[in-house]
Amino acid sequence: MKFFIDTANLAQIKEANDLGILDGVTTNPSLMAKEGISGQEAIINHYKAICDIVDGDISAEVISTDFDGIIAEGKKLAAIHPNIVVKVPMIKDGIKAIKWFTDNGISTNCTLVFSAGQAILCAKAGAKYVSPFIGRVDDSGWDGIQLVEQIANIYAIQGFKTQVLAASIRNANHIIRCAEVGADVCTCPLDSILALLKHPLTDIGLAKFLEDAKKL
Ligand code: E4P
Repeated sequence: MKFFIDTANLAQIKEANDLGILDGVTTNPSLMAKEGISGQEAIINHYKAICDIVDGDISAEVISTDFDGIIAEGKKLAAIHPNIVVKVPMIKDGIKAIKWFTDNGISTNCTLVFSAGQAILCAKAGAKYVSPFIGRVDDSGWDGIQLVEQIANIYAIQGFKTQVLAASIRNANHIIRCAEVGADVCTCPLDSILALLKHPLTDIGLAKFLEDAKKL
């Protein structure tokens, strides 16, 4: 399973990249706004800065919702760097645009996916990634991990090449469960990645080893 970080914060991206386990980055308009980035030039420069840090797929989301707008915006984003993946919302014009991008050699990530039916359409249109939003499914009272498992099973049975990119991760257990049910990628906030490091018995064991090492 690949690890992406789900943020537009450059310091956090660098920290995760320095761990040596990072395969890519996902962003969205809310994450960009949180960093105070506004205006086309600033947005483009910010994506360039991310691409300079991480050698992997970087999802950059369009904000247009009509076919022509999505294509125009996606082309500009894709021109920033070869690693840019155009993130397109799961709407009718979005699916049409994903098919157009696929036919024209531009990689896409279909975002805001909440059902297996939507995931089938993403795969049929040729998206490189499908992003089911686990945490938001859980928040609505359903089971986000079950959705990831269902999509992974359907893709395996049908031989779809689209990769399942589990998004809206809230904790370390989400990451572990995603690995168990066959997600290809997990995009996570930095604190969920760092939480994987932690176990109280590791801390207790290390303290004892360091104490005993003083006797050597
Ligand atoms: C996916 O690519 C989205 O950026 C993200 O995972 C959404 O997560 P949230 O539900 O925590 O906003």
